[in-house]
Amino acid sequence: MTIADNNSPVLNLGIIGLGGGASQMIPAFLKHPHINLMAAADIDQEQLDRFRSELHGDTYSSAEALCQSNNVDVIYIATPNQFHIEHALMALENKKHVLIEKPMTLTLDDADEMIRAARRNEMQLTVNVKHSFEPRIRKIREMVLNGELGRLRMLNYWYFNDWLYSPRTKEELTPELGGGVPWRQGPHQIDILRTIAGGQVRSVRAMTGVWDENRPVAGHYSSFLEFENGVVATAVYSGYDHFNSREFTYRVDEGDDWPDPPVHARARAALRQAGSAEAETAMKRERRFGGSGRTAQGAAPDQRRPTPWILGGPLVVSFDKGDVRLTPDGLLVYGDESKQEVSLTSGRDGRDGVIDQVYDAVVHGKRPANDGEWGMATLEVVLALFQSGQERKEIYLSHQIATID
Ligand SMILES: NC(=O)c1ccc[n+]([C@@H]2O[C@H](COP(=O)([O-])OP(=O)(O)OC[C@H]3O[C@@H](n4cnc5c(N)ncnc54)[C@H](O)[C@@H]3O)[C@@H](O)[C@H]2O)c1
Repeated sequence: MTIADNNSPVLNLGIIGLGGGASQMIPAFLKHPHINLMAAADIDQEQLDRFRSELHGDTYSSAEALCQSNNVDVIYIATPNQFHIEHALMALENKKHVLIEKPMTLTLDDADEMIRAARRNEMQLTVNVKHSFEPRIRKIREMVLNGELGRLRMLNYWYFNDWLYSPRTKEELTPELGGGVPWRQGPHQIDILRTIAGGQVRSVRAMTGVWDENRPVAGHYSSFLEFENGVVATAVYSGYDHFNSREFTYRVDEGDDWPDPPVHARARAALRQAGSAEAETAMKRERRFGGSGRTAQGAAPDQRRPTPWILGGPLVVSFDKGDVRLTPDGLLVYGDESKQEVSLTSGRDGRDGVIDQVYDAVVHGKRPANDGEWGMATLEVVLALFQSGQERKEIYLSHQIATID
């Protein structure tokens, strides 16, 4: 930690894995006044070269070397899912605070080991569930807590997009390595629902499926979640690039390159044109840090969309006295007698919220809302999506914790 001119502590941050996930977070790290992004590790020299030339930071050719550095306080781990356990333990045992990408890891035993390592080393372990910190989601949670619309009763969240046919790595298409829609996208959707509904999922009934043998991972899930407090939710996701739920969301979406008029099944067509796994890998590489295919989310701060973005798909939240849905500028509340718009144009998005959680935890010792226990509870729901589908029955959960407000 270093001290800025105005006496505020500044956290020195290093990144392991300069891929697509990191590319989306880097602009938010760079604009944070109390974060100094100063190092990165990757096994791909080209990524390290891009980091050095664009951001002038230190580079390390192994995760271990970065973890052993005395120059960083916090390590953001954005390597593929199967490496999360190894890299998190490495960072924590070297006395580094951790912000880890979702899902925090692939098994409950590994999650437990990470939590124990954080405690033993007195380090903060946080999970990058950035969408749960979006201003719209925090505002809905506030409505739940202040009771202005009565009791929360039901959430319905349906997201249809092209996830499966966007350029993917081999691991993203390998179930055992945490590939496919439930592993890669489920944590976001589940985390948003848990955040709003109070956190503690009682049971899950779900089905996942592989519909395209050329992309042999689960490309969808349909699920019904019951919470301990009686709230119920449906969470549905299809990445099969047929219907796109942007048509239902009035442009509330994480994407930023939506052509007007929309082009049907664009990702499938681009993949067919690419024609080979090598060409697909090359397309994916360009979405990593420094690549030409970075989305606006991964571009410099001044190129970001004015309206903060959120995971797509219609989300309708039902209370005793009203339904709430997302709009491009905030929320629309459909009450008993009238409709009311809530404008939320702070310019902040979920990434800013996640980074604030890390900062407050490390500098002020405040318990983060996205700590290891929280991440483990979301992981348990992801595992239940698969188990429920395989066993065709309702799964009861035992590692859930309440929303940390
Ligand atoms: N929060 C989000 O919205 C979001 C978005 C995308 C990805 N992610 C998450 O980020 C993680 C990475 O996904 P991605 O799409 O960026 O993957 P990616 O394949 O684009 O990037 C992974 C990067 O890690 C590097 N790497 C691989 N093995 C390594 C090792 N052993 N040591 C050091 N570096 C290594 C690769 O060279 C690559 O640069 C996943 O956990 C994913 O779920 C999160």
